[in-house]
Amino acid sequence: MKLLIFGSSGQLGKSIIKQLNQYQIDAVCLNSKQLNITDKRQVANKINKICPDLVINTAAYTNVDKAEEFFESAYRVNCSGPENIVDACKAKLIPIIHVSTDYVFDGLQTSPYKPTDITNPISIYGKSKLAGENFINNYDQGFIIRTSWLFSEFNSNFYKTMLNLANHKREIRVVNDEIGCPTYAGDLAEAILKLALGIISENLSSNIYHFAGDKQCTWYDFAKFILNESYAQKKIKTLPEVIPVTSEEFHNKFSIRPKFSALDSTKLCSQLAINSSKWEEAIFKLLLV
Ligand SMILES: NC(=O)c1ccc[n+]([C@@H]2O[C@H](COP(=O)([O-])OP(=O)(O)OC[C@H]3O[C@@H](n4cnc5c(N)ncnc54)[C@H](OP(=O)(O)O)[C@@H]3O)[C@@H](O)[C@H]2O)c1
Repeated sequence: MKLLIFGSSGQLGKSIIKQLNQYQIDAVCLNSKQLNITDKRQVANKINKICPDLVINTAAYTNVDKAEEFFESAYRVNCSGPENIVDACKAKLIPIIHVSTDYVFDGLQTSPYKPTDITNPISIYGKSKLAGENFINNYDQGFIIRTSWLFSEFNSNFYKTMLNLANHKREIRVVNDEIGCPTYAGDLAEAILKLALGIISENLSSNIYHFAGDKQCTWYDFAKFILNESYAQKKIKTLPEVIPVTSEEFHNKFSIRPKFSALDSTKLCSQLAINSSKWEEAIFKLLLV
């Protein structure tokens, strides 16, 4: 099986690459300099030349705050990008696994969102990702995996930010009125590769899935867990005080993030016989390295 992976220098892209050997999967991995998904001709040429068995798209415009201002860029990458990939794949019916977000929901629900729940994004980022999902969803061989609150050993993310701040701050303000499920990107990478194998071997039909952490919490709870565990493992010298704040206080404006965006991963987990992301265990293991 030969995969083609877009967004290979991103956090999730690197997490997938790390596991390719384990699954003995051959893949061509392209970063944004090697392939710009907003360039229709480039995407078509690359897919025709490589002729992969399956495409994984992890490339995205992921800066939620900046997307509000630079909405054209966000739409170009998050909406036109997936459209270009579908257009290039459809002649040969090449399956696509496309990664999306919990921010396609408005956060008004009180129980974890299922893949069939109604979307209603409140931010440009969420709207642009949903617009991209629609192209994948309308394609016979389009598979969407929505995820949330990704962290890993790669690039910058909440886990690494907390460790950095702990090294030079005595107080850290963290949002305590948004609830979600932290997800270890390594666990998501495993789920994506297992789904890819399933699509190829079992000829699955297109679908929307969720894959996220097994426990919901606020960013404040997540920060406390990371810092307490880091301190216990002697990775930080002092334990900073974590101060809970509202998202409005933190961002100094109306929050564009859903207040509740826990995802229900049952559908994908039962289909692949895997667990949702055990994020506490992942933090523990990351700190051991
Ligand atoms: N991070 C999260 O907490 C989170 C939560 C929910 C869902 N997701 C979704 O999960 C996926 C992976 O996220 P991530 O955390 O790995 O994000 P990331 O680290 O920001 O990686 C995204 C990658 O996309 C690349 N990219 C941007 N524009 C591109 C373009 N025009 N052509 C090709 N590549 C382009 C970026 O390249 P450059 O580095 O060169 O810009 C970057 O390497 C995304 O679909 C995201 O929406 C993420």
